[in-house]
Amino acid sequence: MSLTFASRIDGTRIRCLIGTDRPLAAPTLCFSLMAAPRVISGGTLVRRVAGYAEVALPDLVPGVEHEVVLEHANKEFGPRNRAWLPLGAYLRVGNACLPLPPGNDPGLRAAEGPFAPPLPADRLPLVPQPTEWKPSGGTLDFTALAPVAGMAGVSDLAARLGLSPLVAPGGLALAVTEDAALGAEGYRLTVAPSGLTVAIGGPAGLHYAGITLLTLRETCDGQLPCGTITDKPRFGWRGQHLDCARHFFGVEFILRLLDLMALLKLNRFHWHFADDEAFRLEVETQPLLWQRTAFRGEGELVPGVFGGGIRAGGSYSKADVAKVVARARALQIEVLPEIEVPAHSHAMIKAVPGLRDPGDNGEEVSVQGYLDNIVNPAVPATWDLLVPLAREVASLFPLGILHLGADEAPHGAWGGSPAVAALKAREGLSTSDDVQGWMLARLAGELGASGIRVAAWEEAAKGCQGGIGHGALLFSWTGQGPGIEAARRGHDVVMCPAQHAYFDLAHSPDPDDWGAAWAGFVPLEKTVAWDPVPTGAEDIAPRIAGVEACFWGEFTTEDAQAEGMIAPRILGIATRGWEPAGTTDGPMLRALAGVYAPLFDRIGWQRHRGA
Ligand code: ACM
Repeated sequence: MSLTFASRIDGTRIRCLIGTDRPLAAPTLCFSLMAAPRVISGGTLVRRVAGYAEVALPDLVPGVEHEVVLEHANKEFGPRNRAWLPLGAYLRVGNACLPLPPGNDPGLRAAEGPFAPPLPADRLPLVPQPTEWKPSGGTLDFTALAPVAGMAGVSDLAARLGLSPLVAPGGLALAVTEDAALGAEGYRLTVAPSGLTVAIGGPAGLHYAGITLLTLRETCDGQLPCGTITDKPRFGWRGQHLDCARHFFGVEFILRLLDLMALLKLNRFHWHFADDEAFRLEVETQPLLWQRTAFRGEGELVPGVFGGGIRAGGSYSKADVAKVVARARALQIEVLPEIEVPAHSHAMIKAVPGLRDPGDNGEEVSVQGYLDNIVNPAVPATWDLLVPLAREVASLFPLGILHLGADEAPHGAWGGSPAVAALKAREGLSTSDDVQGWMLARLAGELGASGIRVAAWEEAAKGCQGGIGHGALLFSWTGQGPGIEAARRGHDVVMCPAQHAYFDLAHSPDPDDWGAAWAGFVPLEKTVAWDPVPTGAEDIAPRIAGVEACFWGEFTTEDAQAEGMIAPRILGIATRGWEPAGTTDGPMLRALAGVYAPLFDRIGWQRHRGA
């Protein structure tokens, strides 16, 4: 049997055309949109969970295309580009599920983009730019280093990237000396006609000197410019986040992302494996979490929200975690796990009984359209689950920090819960923010007693009792204001403002582009058009731990689709995390992206070429 499916944006509406070469009696069209849909014509909405919908259709007749017209229920979500069209669409006919072809070409379309200006001669073809570069004239012919202790991470990286060996018999000797004044991650690399010398502050410094040598060999065609590079990062936290809950990214993709991060001297991988749609870590404290939610789709606890289609998903074993952690460590990267509570917990609530107050008659709706996505801190089952779960997850990651989540509690959360009403009276709380703050502080206290530091999204600072407290590391994502406020109240902060650092946002307003748009568009230039310590906030500079880019997976259906969303924009976060403000501006980053384009191609990482 042959089915056809096409969809297109028509103003605020989405027009879908379904064709069949066999008669189909009363099929149901199942699909997901970026947010809750409304059916304008062509069928009747019979079920909806967040952006997932089932629409009863009339009988379909061969040779006659049937049109279904949709709209996002919230008019603010006018469709912006192809990512906003139906994803994971299929027809249910009786007990059979018939996949529909993608309604449009899914994923990134890499049109050739704007001209990349040449890199000025006084710049090294290197991202991030070093703190100081003093050229001395001439070049050094460089193919490989002679075997040198402490370079295994970089030489293994070169091999995995398909680049020629960085360390080989007969290679150039690298003379290594120590200079504690360079700091743990700093190095001073001298390239002279007579050879290479490096001074390091510690093992990480040698690793980064190796990354610099490897990169310059590739970008200078084996002719290293002679001179001295003195280099160290501005920030200790230089992160990349990956949402593996909405889309299950295979371990191989994660390992490749770690390699790309390492090439750009990023050093924190934020692993977001739990959200409304799935809990993917194979924990022992509560196996139902992943056993019941790792896959979503037809007949599963969570239907095909966000492109899940008939069935999609997977889980990460402890062996997978060990592999990711070991690879990361070899690349000077630490892994931050996130368990995501109290909101964004629809999957957790579906999998484990008792996490809601049975008397709760509230009607709160999450931003993504869920009616039940927040666990209740006033019922014992929540604590019975969360404390051992958090301890187990944290124990798998050497960093010693656990991200609890805490973003986007639905407005009015727990308003209908008698158990929370009693909690409020007992603890002197009034609003949902107060309740969330109290809950997070309690959880942070329990974990702190086990030597685990907590992290959370910016909302965790809210609440009449001061929010999460306990030295939590907070992530400022709606902008930089909440991070500045939290820093002034004594928190360490990682800046990940969506307007500059969310790589799931479309690069441009082009309807043929791909991605979300709630915080605007993020062309390459915007990824460096900000300062993590903005003017006027110099007083809290010591509290800004660093920066992080986020990639959310709501509309990702294949791992490879993320590549062109991440590259070349990852050059921008690497720049902001390492360089002092003012070194690389947008046009300079565009020039550097031009230099890196052949390198991305050589290592087989797709890049967005437009915008
Ligand atoms: C977030 O983007 N909700 C942290």
